[in-house]
Parts: sequence; structure tokens; C-alpha cells
Amino acid sequence: MTTDAPAPSDLAFVPFVSVQNMMRLVQSIGVESFIEGIAAYLEEDFRNWEAFDKTPRVASHSAEGVIELMPTSNGEVYGFKYVNGHPKNTREGLQTVTAFGLLAQVDTGYPVLLSEMTMLTALRTAATSALVAKNLMPKGSHTMAVIGNGAQSEFQCLAMKKLCGIRRVKLYDIDPAATAKAAKNLEGQGLEVVSCTTAQDAIEGAQILTTCTADKQCATILSDNMVGAGVHINAIGGDCPGKTELHVDILKRSDIFVEYPPQTRIEGEIQALPDDYPVEEVWEVIAGRKQGRTSESQITLFDGVGFAIEDFSALRFVRDRIKGTPFMEQLDMLADPDDPRDLFGMLQRSSGE
Ligand SMILES: NC(=O)c1ccc[n+]([C@@H]2O[C@H](COP(=O)([O-])OP(=O)(O)OC[C@H]3O[C@@H](n4cnc5c(N)ncnc54)[C@H](O)[C@@H]3O)[C@@H](O)[C@H]2O)c1
Repeated sequence: MTTDAPAPSDLAFVPFVSVQNMMRLVQSIGVESFIEGIAAYLEEDFRNWEAFDKTPRVASHSAEGVIELMPTSNGEVYGFKYVNGHPKNTREGLQTVTAFGLLAQVDTGYPVLLSEMTMLTALRTAATSALVAKNLMPKGSHTMAVIGNGAQSEFQCLAMKKLCGIRRVKLYDIDPAATAKAAKNLEGQGLEVVSCTTAQDAIEGAQILTTCTADKQCATILSDNMVGAGVHINAIGGDCPGKTELHVDILKRSDIFVEYPPQTRIEGEIQALPDDYPVEEVWEVIAGRKQGRTSESQITLFDGVGFAIEDFSALRFVRDRIKGTPFMEQLDMLADPDDPRDLFGMLQRSSGE
């Protein structure tokens, strides 16, 4: 810029949370407290569910995976997340899921936060699963089976420990190296960790069954005969058309709770059921409008696909928590000329830089 060009106004700078700063922020708060913090924001936004703009996420599918945009607004703040899902990525040394997201002021349309969300998605997914499980699991649940020991798995374990009182986790993955990784990462985290060699083994004695596998097909991670009465299933890996984890007979024996039915009917386990199959909306349970678990023998199923409001809550939490910390940079992201109509003049004045 030439010396006489006006400096960008404050509004031109958008707080940006990089991956490194997100990790610093999480470390400064502690993983479990961070998840608990997101859960509190989620609870607040779930109670305010009706005020939000809601739409199924906008998905662009390819043979290898999916790229999605997830927008929402509560009338004051707008947010969206960019996220991908490519199950074959891990074989190439890449993440299955990566993401970033943004919050903006509705009254001006100006962004107020840009953030990495690969880490934050794992934290918010875990917070959502645990908040839902807290409302649906059998009383006194202490053991969780975790089938699929990839990127999401340790976050799920710590969230269920913090919010639901889980003390023991039983891990299973078709790839024993993934189980070994998760078991090692969970050492010293206050959980008893049991590594299992079959899914059947993992669910033995567990009250919460978490499935978080990644496969671009309809898999049968749990078959009907594996699931006994009186459990809560937290199924988060089936989140795309043609990508599910549970045998349909399990769905028919369960009371099914979903985030946003128009999206879950496209992407969730319930894509295997007729379009008018009855499901409950989980926000109504969290807001105290509907009862969650009604008997100890019931099977409750959270068919979690991940909804935009959860990312909005997580971003809102981050926005509040980075205030006054060094865990952000100011990104010169918006062209904001002194005379709002003189965008071209702003460009001209920058010549000779
Ligand atoms: N619902 C949500 O909000 C949400 C959020 C994030 C991710 N996800 C989904 O959760 C899943 C897990 O995500 P990730 O980031 O941990 O993926 P990841 O690729 O890191 O891990 C997936 C694990 O599943 C294992 N696996 C695959 N098939 C299996 C099978 N038949 N039995 C046991 N294990 C099996 C793989 O070996 C791998 O270790 C993905 O499908 C992802 O799309 C959902």
C-alpha cells in the first residue's frame, strides 16, 4: 500500500483461530472442560432451536467422498462450516474429516470469526453425543463400547466420561493399529481402557454403544442379535446417503432421536426406513418438552449426523473464550474502504506498493 492510503478499519480485521491456536486454547482450558463448555452452549442453542434458520446441509458428492456447507443463523449471528468426509483419505496419510468455519454479524453481514474446525468438529461432535447420551442413557451407565477407533474416538470417550460419568471404555476397530493408538492416547485420562478383538466383545457389558466408523457404504457394524435391551446407541459414523452402520432391525427395536429430521432422513441410519417413520427430535428432549428414556429396557438410538447448529454453538463458544487471549490473529480479510462506494479508488491507491 502507498503511504497515503488509509489503513484498513477495525472491521476489516477478522479474528482468526489457526489449528495451532485452537490447540493452545484447548490446552489452556483442558479437553474435558472445553467439551463441557461447548455442551453448555449447545444446550442453550438447542433450547432456542425454533429461532434458528435450518436447512439440510448442502452436499457435493463424488466417488471418493463428500464436501459440505452447513449454514445457520439465530437472527443475530450467522454461521457456516465447510467440511469434507473422505473415508479413503487415511490410507493416503490424510484426515477423513477436515473443516473450517465462520461467524458473521447478521445486521452488517461482516464476519466476526474465522476458525479451523477439524479439531473443533471432533470436540463438538463429542459434546453433542455426550449431551444427548446424558439425556437418554440408562441410569448409572458406566461402560461404553467404541467401535471405530479413528480421529473422533478419544474425544467421544472423554466427553462421555465428563458429562455422563463413563468410567470404562471398550475399544474395537477392524484395524488393530487404530485401537492401539486410541488405547495409548487414553492412558492416564482416568478411564479404564479395554482393547477388544471383536465388536461383540466390545459391546459386552456396555450400556452405551458408540459407532464411529468410516466407510463409504452401508456397513453392518452392529447386527440385530448383538444389541440387547436397555442400552443407548450413539451412532455417529453413518452420515451420508448410502453410508450407514446399523442393521435396520436394530432401528425397528429402538426409539430413534435425531437432530434435524429433513437432513437425517437423507443422511442418517433412518435413510433405511420409510420417509414417514416416526422419530423424535433431540432438541425437544434437551429443552424439557419431551421425555427421553421412558423405561430401563428401552433401546434409545441417537442417529447423529452432525447439524449446523452444533457448529454454530462451538464457534460461539470459541469466540467468547478467545477474548483477551493471545490465541488468535487478526486477519486482513475484508476490503473496507473509507468511502464505502470507492472500492476501485482503494485499489488505485494501493498501486506502487
Ligand atoms: N455425526 C457427526 O457429527 C460426525 C462428525 C465427525 C465425523 N463423523 C463421522 O464419524 C466417522 C468417524 O470419523 P473419524 O474422523 O474418526 O474417521 P477415521 O477414518 O479417523 O476413523 C474411522 C475408523 O473406523 C474404522 N472402521 C472402518 N470400518 C470399520 C468396521 N467395519 N468395524 C470397525 N471399525 C471400522 C477404521 O479402521 C478407522 O480407524 C466418519 O464416518 C465421519 O464421517 C460424524
